[in-house]
Amino acid sequence: MKRTEIKQLLAECKFGDTVNVKGWVKAFRQNRFIQMNDGSTINNVQAVVDFEAMDESLLKRITVGAAISITGKLEESQGEGQKFDLIVEKIEVLGDADPDEVSKTVMQPKKHSLEFLREQAHLRFRTNLFGAIFRIRNATSFAIHKYFNDGGYYHIATPIITGSDAEGAGEMFRVSNLDPKNPPLNDAGEIDWQEDFFGKETNLTVSGQLEAELAAMALGKVYTFGPTFRAENSNTARHLAEFWMVEPEVAFYDIHDNMDLAEDFLSYICKYVMDTCPDDIQFLNDRELKEDQMKPQAERNEMSLIERLQFVIDNDFERITYTEAIQLLRNSKPYKKKKFKYPVEWGSDLQSEHERYLVEKHFKKPVIIRDYPASFKAFYMRLNEPQEGVPGDTVAAMDILFPGIGEIIGGSQREERYDVLVEKCKAFDIPEEDVWWYLDTRKFGTAPHAGFGLGFERMVMFTTGMSNIRDVIPFPRTPKKAEF
Ligand code: 4AD
Ligand code: MG
Repeated sequence: MKRTEIKQLLAECKFGDTVNVKGWVKAFRQNRFIQMNDGSTINNVQAVVDFEAMDESLLKRITVGAAISITGKLEESQGEGQKFDLIVEKIEVLGDADPDEVSKTVMQPKKHSLEFLREQAHLRFRTNLFGAIFRIRNATSFAIHKYFNDGGYYHIATPIITGSDAEGAGEMFRVSNLDPKNPPLNDAGEIDWQEDFFGKETNLTVSGQLEAELAAMALGKVYTFGPTFRAENSNTARHLAEFWMVEPEVAFYDIHDNMDLAEDFLSYICKYVMDTCPDDIQFLNDRELKEDQMKPQAERNEMSLIERLQFVIDNDFERITYTEAIQLLRNSKPYKKKKFKYPVEWGSDLQSEHERYLVEKHFKKPVIIRDYPASFKAFYMRLNEPQEGVPGDTVAAMDILFPGIGEIIGGSQREERYDVLVEKCKAFDIPEEDVWWYLDTRKFGTAPHAGFGLGFERMVMFTTGMSNIRDVIPFPRTPKKAEF
């Protein structure tokens, strides 16, 4: 008999239908009620066995975690909260699960800490919580592809191994197949990278942007969605060493078009996830409310998960310049009371304490900050004309900051003027021979263009309400952690 998935069963089946369901035992109570889940939905199906009519040795094998196959008839449920009971006619154990072993794992149905769940990333998929998270992660990803595909963008595969450092951050993972014990040396006694696989130094990409720009200058509207790698040793709840980035790049767009695109895009994702994952969102919403009740008032979320998603759909983001942000911060209470750890001066980068004040205390909504000082932003960002009341050079950069998450998007209008860009490369010590292919686009029909990068896991933090980035990626990679 063909298997019916639980999601489909709950949506389409009728009383009296005979079905086959395969899944894992979530709970088995009174030797009679089996809660079964197959991952297709957060909802379980309840199977009812007549234990007197069943072989005892088979009954013993129905334990939490076991994989089973049940054929039976659907009847109206007497229990609360479910429509169907599946009255067992035939039951088969496909894979046993030893209760003693299960009791040591996150499959044991009780409350586990998120840290404990992370230690069993291979099993945490089985929990209701992580089932919900990863179904929403999938919907978030699909929403992104759908948004761009429907909008006429082309998906471009940019390389994972590159010879360039797009962000100038200098925190990259080297890719090499030289023998670490006995690397070839040049006359100066240094490692001879010409002998390496690619004949030069290579690393894992930090961003697909530079390559996406090349494609945008021919195909018009493109996006990348790929893994990116940063060897920054920041052990925070918002940083991963391996994360996924979504990077649209659009010809003939300026910084304002870019902000409009980003805002529309983020609202679309929130709406798509709300529409397609109502059960999972509700589950996470209710879980968060319960968790919040155990916290002191000041640490609770002001809005629920559903309210936060709806807020992004319904409201415009605040848009300010970096210079305005500095003025706001200098007039703020924490500044006057010397509560900020880092200086608030035109020319120094905003720290997360400053961003949090602006987003969570002052505006209480997503904020786009643009026109940052050129000194601490990447070489490819477009130099602005001097502006009244602005003490130094700025670039057409934009960061989007979300409550509870911080920077979710970083982007800019790109420097399309060849001469200005060459000067920038010099100022940033980027050898022209490394980026000749990038500079070339400014020689053949250059044009204004802009784009941004969305940190995919930071977006999934927002769509799930999870507060640690390690809990929204199946196998997190962080300093000293590459298990599984
Ligand atoms: O601001 P970033 O560094 O921008 C770029 O890489 C540009 N090349 C993007 C572009 O314009 N096409 O990174 C973009 C986003 C950040 O806003 C943040 O959401 C996320 O990527 N991000 C990280 N997410 C998780 N872990 C990390 N270590 C991250 N670093 C950046
Ligand atoms: Mg950034």
